[in-house]
Order: sequence, then C-alpha cells, then structure tokens
Amino acid sequence: MKITLVHGQNHKGSSYTIGRMLAEKFDGADIEEFFLPRDLEHFCLGCYSCIEDESRCPFYAEKKKILDSVTGADLLIFTTPTYCMHASAGMKSFLDLAFTYWMVHRPRREMFSKKAVIISTASGAGTGSAIKDIKDSLFWWGVPYIRKMGYAVHAMNWETVAPAQKEKIGKDVDRMAKKISGSNVHVGIKTKACFSAMRLMQSKDMGSSPKEKEYWQENGWLGKGRPWK
Ligand SMILES: Cc1cc2nc3c(=O)[nH]c(=O)nc-3n(C[C@H](O)[C@H](O)[C@H](O)COP(=O)(O)O)c2cc1C
Repeated sequence: MKITLVHGQNHKGSSYTIGRMLAEKFDGADIEEFFLPRDLEHFCLGCYSCIEDESRCPFYAEKKKILDSVTGADLLIFTTPTYCMHASAGMKSFLDLAFTYWMVHRPRREMFSKKAVIISTASGAGTGSAIKDIKDSLFWWGVPYIRKMGYAVHAMNWETVAPAQKEKIGKDVDRMAKKISGSNVHVGIKTKACFSAMRLMQSKDMGSSPKEKEYWQENGWLGKGRPWK
C-alpha cells in the first residue's frame, strides 16, 4: 500500500501528528510525505499556461513531484491546521496549482479509485470549513472515498493537547484505519453526474482549450470509456 501525506504546514503540530498516526496504522505501507510551503513555495500566477500544456507551469517541476506521488498513492492523507476558519495558505496554494486535475479540465483516471482522509485541527472553530476547502478539490479530482477528521484541540501544539483528548483521537484513528482497510471504493452517483456534465461540455467544444478535448478523446471518455471500472 502506498500512502501520500500532504501537510499544509511545515511544522509537526497536532494536524501533522494525527495524520502521521493514521498513516502508521498501515503496517508495511510505503509512506511519502510533503510539507507546504516547504515543498512548493509558490502561488498560482493565473497565467493559464497549464491549460494548453501542464508542463509550461512555471512551477511544474516542484508540483509534479507532489502530484506524481498523489497520483500513484492508494491512500491520500491531507492535513492542515485551521487558519482563519479555512485551510492554510500553503495548502490552498497547492490546490490552486493542481486545478487542471479538476474534472472540468484534465481529470486523472487514477483518482477515481482512491481513498482519502482530510484532517484538520483548530483551537476552537473552523475545522469544517478548512476540511471543505480540501474536500472540494479532491471531489472534483474524482476521488470517490473521502473521510474527514476535525478536532477542536484548544491548543497551539500537540504537546499541550489534553491527555483525555489525545486518547480519544487515538481511538478515532484506530477506528478510521480499520474502516479504510475494510471498505471498497465505489464511484458515487454525484461524481458520475459531474463527470457526465464535464464530458458533455468537452464534447460540445465548451472546454477551456481544444487541447483539453484532445485529452478527453485520447482517454476514450468522449466515447463509452470512463475513468472508473
Ligand atoms: C494564523 C492562525 C490562524 C488561526 N485561525 C484559527 C481559527 O480560525 N479557528 C480556530 O479555532 N483556531 C485558529 N487557529 C489555531 C489553530 O488552528 C490551532 O492551534 C491548531 O490546532 C494548530 O494546528 P497545528 O498544531 O497542526 O499547527 C489559528 C492559528 C493561527 C496561527
């Protein structure tokens, strides 16, 4: 099993720790992790070069390392501290730089068979909206199995999280790992409907570029082919 962790922070606080605890529940897993902004210190410039050719993104080399790992993983674990009720800027920037992976542009076949867990901690409020920032991208990338873990830890770091809460989180992590191991991935009706709408758009030349239509054609998705089994 291959697990890719994408952390929306450079430091190893509560969000990181919970993500790492979950990854380590899978014995023998090949774990790769990335820290943002350390591994991608850029914001999307809005140049749209990627629409014609993804390799023309000025930050292609850095983001490719992360996205190749994400594409090749069986399980994705995204972690972010809640900052101002949302995901961190580093995480948001990475998601912006991966926008061509959305179904509306060039979805990746591999995404439609993946499992993902999104983890966020806050002092008090906001994990729901921080998690949603990430979930929106994963859904539109085509990831069919997305689970969430949000905690109000009332702390600035993992060391000062109350022991009782650490114990509860530990149990939740155990349960989540078992759930992930024991469940199959099914592409849901919402994903299928969104894919069909994007397919219709591409077939009617309403995509962002003729290059996108070519991509859909090459994958056989304008005919009967679909990215799921
Ligand atoms: C810039 C910044 C913004 C924050 N915004 C919120 C917030 O909107 N809601 C909240 O409850 N806590 C907020 N916090 C507190 C963190 O979300 C909280 O300490 C979290 O557990 C940190 O996670 P980490 O240990 O993974 O860094 C903020 C902290 C910082 C530094």
